[in-house]
Amino acid sequence: MELALSSLLCITLLTIFFLKFLSKRKNSTSEKKIANPPPSPPGLPVIGNVLDFGKHAHRSLKLLSERYGPLMLLRWCSVPVLVVSSAEVAQDIIKTHDRAFSSRPRSNFLAKLMNGGQDMAFAPYGEYWRQMKRIYVLHLFSNKMVSSFRNVREEEINSTIEKIEKTISSSSPTNLSEIFMTFTNDLICRVALGRKYSGGEGVPDVYELLRKLMSLFGRLYIEDYFPFLGWIDILRGLAGEVKEITKELDDFLEKVVQEHSDGDRQIVDFVDVLLSIQRENTTGFEIDRVNLKLLVADVFIAATDTTSALLEWAMTELLRHPECAEKLRDDIRGNSSDRSRYVSEEDITDMRYLEAVIKETLRLHPSAPLLVPRQLIEDVRIKGYDVTAGTQVLINYWAMGRETATWGEDAEEFKPERHLDSSVDFRGQDAKFIPFGIGRRQCPGIGFALVMAELVLANLITRFNWEIATKPEGDHYDLAESTGLVVSRKYPLLAYASPAS
Ligand code: HEM
Repeated sequence: MELALSSLLCITLLTIFFLKFLSKRKNSTSEKKIANPPPSPPGLPVIGNVLDFGKHAHRSLKLLSERYGPLMLLRWCSVPVLVVSSAEVAQDIIKTHDRAFSSRPRSNFLAKLMNGGQDMAFAPYGEYWRQMKRIYVLHLFSNKMVSSFRNVREEEINSTIEKIEKTISSSSPTNLSEIFMTFTNDLICRVALGRKYSGGEGVPDVYELLRKLMSLFGRLYIEDYFPFLGWIDILRGLAGEVKEITKELDDFLEKVVQEHSDGDRQIVDFVDVLLSIQRENTTGFEIDRVNLKLLVADVFIAATDTTSALLEWAMTELLRHPECAEKLRDDIRGNSSDRSRYVSEEDITDMRYLEAVIKETLRLHPSAPLLVPRQLIEDVRIKGYDVTAGTQVLINYWAMGRETATWGEDAEEFKPERHLDSSVDFRGQDAKFIPFGIGRRQCPGIGFALVMAELVLANLITRFNWEIATKPEGDHYDLAESTGLVVSRKYPLLAYASPAS
């Protein structure tokens, strides 16, 4: 079946190629002439530079940028894609072109998944996105809101510690990848929805739903590039899968909102906050049921995988560098009020080395190496090159985190110390260090993510000694990456824990 479909696809692509060839003369007169476009690697007919993106686009594009420069114009089929690979160019975007770079590409797949594109994270730039982002920043992710979930964090970390203690008594290794995923998922569920949804009788498994949802993000939707070939997505079963998971997501969120709408509830979670904004119309902007559900869906999509990938990579590097783990433990113990108990949110505020470990992890292993794709809303001239409205934009932050001009000759090495005396901001103001993105589209969940990651790491390092369980292929195995928008470990991180003295 796959073979037949591939042949069908090849025949169709060849047909398009010939049709394109025949219509070339006609098109060439109507195409917009770009005065001075950025350098472009040569592409193939019809598919353009698709093959240049490779399996791990951040790596392939970095190599390509070493040849063609920090601003390159590629073509993904018929879609022009601008690739930014240096902090200097990114700084220009922050300072001069932030608005122009503030939209997201429209995709048929996302439009279907997000009910006509009515979420926030993938919404095009405009009034709707602005109002939705305001709700996130002012009502869901404010400092006050982040602090209000302090008890929930403490409970979830204590429950994680108990799970690890159980694996010690069973003498089996701890699957840290699973531990981090469950921790972030349970925590986000409680914060956003008020309780865990981890399967069992009559309870939906939000973790399973999220897995299915995230797997859709890594797929190629032919309809997005050749609308008249949408039938191939139907034949491949992809369109059906999107429809099914969209319905599953909507049914789940509808059930959650319904549960929150019944009776007289206190405001305890995001759904309560959104329902009260909706009821009282405090924003002056109407949020309907669909918007409300999609705002909640965005939190899951944006928060869970990103934060658990950060934790996975931080532990991976600490296991590869025991001397850093030792320094971290000294930092944590030196700043904790009581060494034998839970490391609290007050304690971590003074832990400079802990912050440095998190920063170094976000530099070398960013959860979103190409940030989240953007789209230009108007023509711009940047670094002397002309780029037209509608061009998609990928900011290769993974490449920028390795620039020797910024980070020195040892840029490839894990050295948290480099951040101890550095004042480089990593919250979007300084283009050298932008793991959470830049400008208006920047991540609004930074505070949430950092407190979650720092607390769990501090507690795991101070409570347990860790030893990597299997090393079949050493670094090659440990540092192998998954594919997709969020890049985590390809293989699970297994380690033996023992109680720390
Ligand atoms: C380590 C954890 C995280 C990382 C590395 C991360 C990174 C990012 C990045 C790179 C973007 C795109 C920014 C851009 O286009 O310039 C983004 C957007 C976003 N993030 Fe995060 N994020 C993390 C955690 C979170 C959490 C915990 C939440 C929510 C609780 C969250 C909510 C969002 C939302 C809603 C957007 C879309 C913003 C927009 O389009 O305007 N993120 N994040």
